[in-house]
Amino acid sequence: MNNAKDPQQLQQALLQSERMASLGQLVAGIAHELNNPIGFILSNLNSFQVYLAIFTKYIGLLEQLQQTTDEKQRVEVQQQIAQLQAKEDIQFLLQDSAELLSDSIIGAGRVRDLVLDLRRFSHPDQTNWQATELHALIHATLRLARNELKHHVKVELDFAEPELWLNAQPSGISQVLMNMLINASQAIGDHDGTLCIRTLVQNGEILLSIIDSGCGISADALPYIFDPFFTTKEVGAGTGLGLSICHSIVQQHGGTISVQSTPGHTEFSIRLPRIVGPVKPS
Ligand SMILES: Nc1ncnc2c1ncn2[C@@H]1O[C@H](COP(=O)(O)OP(=O)(O)O)[C@@H](O)[C@H]1O
Ligand SMILES: [Mg+2]
Repeated sequence: MNNAKDPQQLQQALLQSERMASLGQLVAGIAHELNNPIGFILSNLNSFQVYLAIFTKYIGLLEQLQQTTDEKQRVEVQQQIAQLQAKEDIQFLLQDSAELLSDSIIGAGRVRDLVLDLRRFSHPDQTNWQATELHALIHATLRLARNELKHHVKVELDFAEPELWLNAQPSGISQVLMNMLINASQAIGDHDGTLCIRTLVQNGEILLSIIDSGCGISADALPYIFDPFFTTKEVGAGTGLGLSICHSIVQQHGGTISVQSTPGHTEFSIRLPRIVGPVKPS
């Protein structure tokens, strides 16, 4: 089979490369998000290693005290214990150890989640059609884009219902979300701004709105933004493919995408068919 001639495979390859390009823009931020917990986990483990040496010494002395019958030696060991207690606050070290470990477990959990999100985002397996919960995808995409947004963008989530299910290729929908988030962040630029992600159910359909307070889209550009390779950004900042790919992904999902924009308010509205969530086996 000649892959290059198969239009479906070509499209998959294009999707995959756009997905990688958007990940490329986030990579420094993701590295930072990983580095932060790894940094404090390492520092916690180093402290714990020091504490453990003290605990080992302390327990060793207590054992010695238990085992010695010689009175003179007992007094000596007791003195050593008293010295150690005067130097080190054993109770505090114990309490701090518990905190160091529980913080490290939380940090390691963050690293694990982020790596899982990354794998989910980039793995071709996720192109299988399946019942998909939209809000979970939104959260996962936001975690990946967190570093990009956190300094200047206030993210507001406004979800009408706890869960909204659709029949989807999860990687496709997260790609749509990711491009929307990156576009919004780039439109906000270095200023402070807000990004609102809202979900509603309207006429039995899911209405997903992504609203940002960025620069807006000029009337000249508006008719072209869904065209492939249309970009107003410098080389390296965008491929010009994001919205055209979003458009075709949404279409493949039986949905529509539209936009309204004025300076300081850009709103993308995506409608998608809703399904009943998976029935949990009883
Ligand atoms: N949220 C937004 N705010 C302002 N302009 C936007 C926004 N989203 C898209 N655009 C405009 O649409 C163009 C095309 O977007 P896209 O297809 O994602 O390509 P790229 O982001 O690579 O330029 C952008 O270059 C920009 O001019
Ligand atoms: Mg884009």
